[in-house]
Amino acid sequence: MDAANGCGSCDLPFTKPQVVVSRGNPQACLMMIGEAPGAREDELGKPFVGRSGKLMDRLMESVGLDPDVDAYICNVVKCRPPKNRRPTLVEIASCRPWLQQQIELVDPYVIALAGSTAVEAILGIKGGITKLRGQWQHWHGRLLMPLLHPAYLLRNPSPADGAPIALTRSDLNEVRHRLKQVDRCAVVPMLDSSRRRLP
Ligand code: URA
Repeated sequence: MDAANGCGSCDLPFTKPQVVVSRGNPQACLMMIGEAPGAREDELGKPFVGRSGKLMDRLMESVGLDPDVDAYICNVVKCRPPKNRRPTLVEIASCRPWLQQQIELVDPYVIALAGSTAVEAILGIKGGITKLRGQWQHWHGRLLMPLLHPAYLLRNPSPADGAPIALTRSDLNEVRHRLKQVDRCAVVPMLDSSRRRLP
């Protein structure tokens, strides 16, 4: 994926040249796809390392998934849209070959789609993420799990049962259970159980 650094398919790389490709394990059975890099991701060159990403990491850990070992994490769009605006359809389409290449190389058993941009980019379904989340989808022989976007969770931080954070934890739990059923995807229990706690 180094070739993505020379990408000129849309205007984004020219306004901000940091191409944010991935983090995590390219051999993982789980791929997490978000929307686009934000400021922190742009700075560090890795996806999901800002506040949203940290929350998603903690939620994954709370169900026994180690984000660095059990998942390959990337975005629909590899360059930060100015002022963190939603990527345009042209930007999404221009970046799609890179995402497609990532999916083919990683060959994930399960893809978790974090937020409506990822759902729309992959499944072509516009809107309705609150109804779609938690519902398994089938796509080209893979299982897809739509999730609420972590930025939405940060804006809705209630720890109550049935609130967005608890729903996302339950969706991630569902993902973990599904991975556990497949031999090649066996999720190794994390040794440090304290990492599973949410703050
Ligand atoms: N960070 C990312 O890399 N992607 C998102 O969708 C949100 C935060």
